[in-house]
Amino acid sequence: MLLQHATWPEVETYLADNKGIIVPIGSTEQHGPSGLIGTDALTAEIIGRKVGEATKTYVAPTLAYGMAQHHMAFTGTITLQPSTMIIVVRDIVISLVRHGFERIFFVNGHGGNVNSVKAAFSEIQNELAELRASSDRGVNKPPPDVRCALHNWWAGDKTTALRKSLYGDSEGYHATPSEVSVTWYAYPEQQRDVELGPLTKVKRAYQGPEDYRELFPDGRMASDPSLATPADGERLVSVAVTELAENYREFLAES
Ligand code: NI
Repeated sequence: MLLQHATWPEVETYLADNKGIIVPIGSTEQHGPSGLIGTDALTAEIIGRKVGEATKTYVAPTLAYGMAQHHMAFTGTITLQPSTMIIVVRDIVISLVRHGFERIFFVNGHGGNVNSVKAAFSEIQNELAELRASSDRGVNKPPPDVRCALHNWWAGDKTTALRKSLYGDSEGYHATPSEVSVTWYAYPEQQRDVELGPLTKVKRAYQGPEDYRELFPDGRMASDPSLATPADGERLVSVAVTELAENYREFLAES
């Protein structure tokens, strides 16, 4: 159920008895020599849309740009500044709230987005709290009880266990075989056969994009994406969708 394939009267009808929506959020950034630049946006979209099908929930257009400043030393990466990202997420949520959505569930494909999205949620809740306070003084009507949630598609217990069982330590932290598998499952024609160098080790925290490239010269971070297969991607999507659909139903049922 895609919001962009709906008409406005259809969305109005949906809102009469359903206040929830799913928003996939990713990034446009290098994923090593064999992973697609769109990996994080594609994985969030592939999985987020299936969660929408499983729960009969509208899925908003994917926010394909994220906080990718640390990948900027690699060609093709496009980043938002954290401050821009906070405003973009805020504007998406407030637009949805204006129309009557009250449960906004972000399916995330990029760890680098988490801090900015959480900061946006704080801004949104503060904005609503101000409106609530002024409604107590009779200035305006009280705002709705809006909840926002952010779930990383790879982080549920069962999805994490499957990633570990498939790849062990070769899963690594960036350009992982699991995320590459998910994109290759959905877009098998985009598989790449590239000779990769030895596994890199994470020795210390990176300081900015040039230092990241110095530490991880081909863009991968302790991962071996040559292990990726479309069949693994299908299994990972299935487990992640089941877990996230459960998370979503619990989110809707929260008191
Ligand atoms: Ni990624």
